[in-house]
Amino acid sequence: MTTNTNQPTRIFLKDYKAPSFKVQSIDLFFNLHEKETQVKAKQSIEKLEETPLVLNGEGLKLLSIRIDGIELSAADYFVTEDSLTVRTAPDYFTLETIVEINPEENKSCAGLYLSNGIFATQCEAEGFRNITYFLDRPDVMTSYTVSIEADKKKYPVLLSNGDLISKKQIGNGRHLAVWRDPFKKPSYLFALVAGDLGVVEGSFITKSGKEVKLEVYASHGKQDRCFHALLSLQKAMKWDEERFGLEYDLNQYMIVSIDDFNMGAMENKGLNIFNSRLVLADPESATDNDFMRIESVVAHEYFHNWTGNRVTCRNWFELSLKEGLTVFRDQEFSSDLHSRAVERIKNVDALRARQFAEDAGPNAHPVRPESCLAVDNFYTATIYEKGAEVIRMMYTIVGKDGFRKGMDNYFKEYDGKAVTILDFAKSIAEPNNVDFTQFKLWYSQSGTPEVNVTENYNADNKEYSLTLKQFCKPTEKEPSKEAFHIPLLIGLLDPTGNDYKLNSKDIAYNSDGKALISLKKEEETYLFTDISDKPVLSLNREFSSPIKLHWNATQAELLHIIKFDKDSFNRREACFKMILQELRSLIADYHSKKELRPNPEIIEAIGYILLDKKIDAQFKSLMLQIPGDDFIAQEEDILDAKAFQAANHSITIAFVQKYESAILELYHAHHKLDSIGDRALKNHLLFYLVEANHPSSISIAFEQFSAAKSMTDKINAIVALCHTDSEERQKALHEFLNRWKEDAVVFNKWLQVQASSRITKTFDIVKKITTTPPFNPENPNNIYSLHSVIGRNHFVMQREKEKTYAWFCDEIIRIDKINPQVAARLCSCFNFVKKFPDEIKEIAQKEIGRVLAEPNLSKNSRELLEGCI
Ligand code: BES
Ligand code: ZN
Repeated sequence: MTTNTNQPTRIFLKDYKAPSFKVQSIDLFFNLHEKETQVKAKQSIEKLEETPLVLNGEGLKLLSIRIDGIELSAADYFVTEDSLTVRTAPDYFTLETIVEINPEENKSCAGLYLSNGIFATQCEAEGFRNITYFLDRPDVMTSYTVSIEADKKKYPVLLSNGDLISKKQIGNGRHLAVWRDPFKKPSYLFALVAGDLGVVEGSFITKSGKEVKLEVYASHGKQDRCFHALLSLQKAMKWDEERFGLEYDLNQYMIVSIDDFNMGAMENKGLNIFNSRLVLADPESATDNDFMRIESVVAHEYFHNWTGNRVTCRNWFELSLKEGLTVFRDQEFSSDLHSRAVERIKNVDALRARQFAEDAGPNAHPVRPESCLAVDNFYTATIYEKGAEVIRMMYTIVGKDGFRKGMDNYFKEYDGKAVTILDFAKSIAEPNNVDFTQFKLWYSQSGTPEVNVTENYNADNKEYSLTLKQFCKPTEKEPSKEAFHIPLLIGLLDPTGNDYKLNSKDIAYNSDGKALISLKKEEETYLFTDISDKPVLSLNREFSSPIKLHWNATQAELLHIIKFDKDSFNRREACFKMILQELRSLIADYHSKKELRPNPEIIEAIGYILLDKKIDAQFKSLMLQIPGDDFIAQEEDILDAKAFQAANHSITIAFVQKYESAILELYHAHHKLDSIGDRALKNHLLFYLVEANHPSSISIAFEQFSAAKSMTDKINAIVALCHTDSEERQKALHEFLNRWKEDAVVFNKWLQVQASSRITKTFDIVKKITTTPPFNPENPNNIYSLHSVIGRNHFVMQREKEKTYAWFCDEIIRIDKINPQVAARLCSCFNFVKKFPDEIKEIAQKEIGRVLAEPNLSKNSRELLEGCI
């Protein structure tokens, strides 16, 4: 679905215009053939204003066009590369078109395509126009009836949205199924699947007593791996009823797993289509993280049924209306089902690694962008993760009950409509009597706000004052920014580690009784009285606002928080901050060619966490985590991966030397236990041992690999071994490949572990893999697992800069020709390029320039690379 034009046009939010035609209904008829599929579309249309009818359509061969049963003559209409225009249309009419498309040739995974012999569609954002001529925009909602004809033997399962109306045998070994979706929907939610698939069935009884049939489809033989997704779906349905009062509205809910898919999963009405790596799971093939991720993605797509499908986006600039809100909802779901603290920490880690980086880089944009080249490029960490943070701030301001009132209000007012982010904000504000005027700047200004902290304690009158000053770095498009409304959860710790009672007129309590200060001006001072000793500040608890907090805490203050803060997020945050500070000072030493000697106090503090028996295993593994390159790069002016690695290495060595026996002992102790937390901590300790070249690390890792019953233990052992250049590494990789080479899901793990390795041969190995089966150079998952992973492996990319960037850019060019969306994702690996050391930057930018000079480069890739040079 490439639009190959040298001068792609930018589209603007301010240019939004309501549609001039209304589509009352559409009947679609698919005559499925691998190479020549005919799509007949019959639309009942009402003209709302006097203007030609311009339909979207790309890569379609128009065979016939009729209005009210009469074939149009050449003078009545014209077709371009991406549109069909009917010059004059009656007030009410039926438009019938017949087009031909070639699903087999379509490698873009957008529109209608074949994945391993299965016909599947992907229409979000603008894929429907690759299937038929239509007003392909989310504010055109209509009801669909879909007939599918196909070879019965090859394609026994025929699915579309809504309810199955009929299914019958017709001549020639073909059969026909008819589906009708009773809910009006935008075209991006249309779906069709045809193939020979196995199915696992279940059901759910809604709170009003309706039985919903649940089905998870996957290739034959994979049914045993579908139960986790089914169970997750049932949990999600129940949760949405309990937490938001939202019930499912159709009689049937289907999930289909396919191997070629650009994204993770898609919420098509009643017929979700999933990337197989986000459906299929059993302990032998999937890790603990995979299980958690699948549960949350299944839930996410289910939650879209209300936040996205019933209430949808007016246009794609409003994407965060459904994605930010639904990410917030899936995060809440996981937090209610598992550890809230662990969920929050993991989500914030991801936010900082991806979104903060994006917001500081060449492709920074607001949650509600003002313009774009390619709509597909909107699926960013900012729209998703920052969008979810903005919702979370509203939630923090009004509290749990207040938020529920707002959500009820939102559905009451907007069910069945296509609306905007500002409509949502209004729905939450109204019943809570809050004013979001300033708050809404979070939607229109890009960049991560930074807040400086100044503290003052007066022992004589027992007063503590806190001064906060906010700023947000200007960007090219936004040279100056207005002050944000920043809600901050706060606590002050006394010397015993308890929270002081907060006496201050500046504190508000939300409906959950949490203490909150609101920074609204550029600078504000908050005064607290009756504070008997100098307190330790615990600010931005739960990471209530997505900001960078600059707080010069002493080592003693950080330790106090690590030991006592009742806010788990800030306990872990204090560890992170402490290690980050040390990394940065070591990086500075590295640059001034000093010997790297980690501060023994820091090593002892890490040891204190290691030895603390009260900290549960999973949380301990998070507290012991060393910040990664993406995170350090945001604090440093230069992303010098070699220096980062040297700093990391020196801390690890010092830690392992000092705590060798405790680490080994803990490793073995948790190895005997068998929970998610035990595995997380144990594997974390294993990485420490390997990173520090501990003499027994390789044998421990290999033993773990050989004995492992779960994928979690297997893959973590290989990850550890992959950082060594050992025989055991070879053996493990070889064995793993033999076991899984035919498995489209698990094979990706074999790719990932090698592409993330730091060893010298990594680049040569990766390059060779791309030309050796079973690597499939057209499969999105294979590319994400290999290319995207090495692309973010700055240590390897920078070390072999003469070869790596040229190869990487060749691959972008190759992939861009077949699948622009996947190519664009690779382009995002260059997010940090402007921070690379000069010599490396020059090489990388030269290669990027070469990609940009490609005459037919897609607008997707172009948009992402333009800011990189
Ligand atoms: N609607 C998206 C999927 C999508 C976006 C498909 C753009 C095609 C183009 C879906 O709801 C989604 O957000 N999926 C995420 C996973 C989710 C758990 C955040 C994805 O696919 O990565
Ligand atoms: Zn989504």
